[in-house]
Amino acid sequence: MSSKIPRVILVTGANRGIGRAIIQALASHPQTTKSIFLMGCRDLKKGEESIRELRSQGITSVVQPLTIDVASDASIQDAAGTVQQRHGHLDVLINNAGYAAIPSASDLSDWRSVYAAVYDTNVTSVALTVAHFLPLLRQSPYGGRVVNISSARASATMLANGLLPPTVAIPYSVSKAALNLLTIEMSRDSANKDVEFQLVSPGHCKTALNNYRGARDPLEGANVVVGLVTAEKGQYKNAGFWETKGASMDLVEIPW
Ligand SMILES: NC(=O)c1ccc[n+]([C@@H]2O[C@H](COP(=O)([O-])OP(=O)(O)OC[C@H]3O[C@@H](n4cnc5c(N)ncnc54)[C@H](OP(=O)(O)O)[C@@H]3O)[C@@H](O)[C@H]2O)c1
Repeated sequence: MSSKIPRVILVTGANRGIGRAIIQALASHPQTTKSIFLMGCRDLKKGEESIRELRSQGITSVVQPLTIDVASDASIQDAAGTVQQRHGHLDVLINNAGYAAIPSASDLSDWRSVYAAVYDTNVTSVALTVAHFLPLLRQSPYGGRVVNISSARASATMLANGLLPPTVAIPYSVSKAALNLLTIEMSRDSANKDVEFQLVSPGHCKTALNNYRGARDPLEGANVVVGLVTAEKGQYKNAGFWETKGASMDLVEIPW
């Protein structure tokens, strides 16, 4: 990381929850505080309000709202065009926007639409967002990085060994497992050899996604992303699946 140009870091779905915590944590870290943060939001007003909250919490880094609905091809394309125009490149893409929904236990008529909506946001939208931003990531003077926010629920090993309780949000677990495979496949594409891909589990965080039932502060959940973004390129093997435990900043590998 020898270049003096500030890094441009985009976090999707960053107007609340873990996404906003990722920006807050990176903006507070000496290695990344001078970066330019693009707060991805579907609703510009929510993004602007969220940036005001970050300012009131003492964040002074450059944080700009960027309208991006990852479920809309036109919106992703517009966002990539805006980044191209403003910055000419992107250094880090953090695919954080995510969605969970529980199919009805008594009525099977909503299952197809629930599975489709969850998969669309958590998998297809990540594939398309990466595809649209790859030309900008390849222009990064640092070598582009992609960090995909997965979940421990994607770990077949942990689930099969009973290390996590059963869930009613099965479409969500399945979608995150698919996101893991998508990330591995993208990392193996020879056209992407100069871009690093990583997967993380932020842990069970207190956010709207789980009606604030998570045990972890989203800022603690953001630690694993901070560890990867501030690491030297190649310090962590490409396409790994990582978490941190408690308040520790040490990255630990999660079994597939
Ligand atoms: N919370 C946990 O315990 C936990 C655990 C493991 C993994 N994760 C993952 O962490 C990530 C962040 O989740 P969170 O817990 O912070 O949830 P959250 O508070 O519900 O935030 C989700 C964010 O994603 C945005 N979003 C949803 N659909 C979008 C779309 N189509 N386009 C753009 N943005 C969209 C939301 O925007 P709006 O405000 O416009 O709705 C919101 O900003 C997700 O990928 C989730 O799966 C969370």
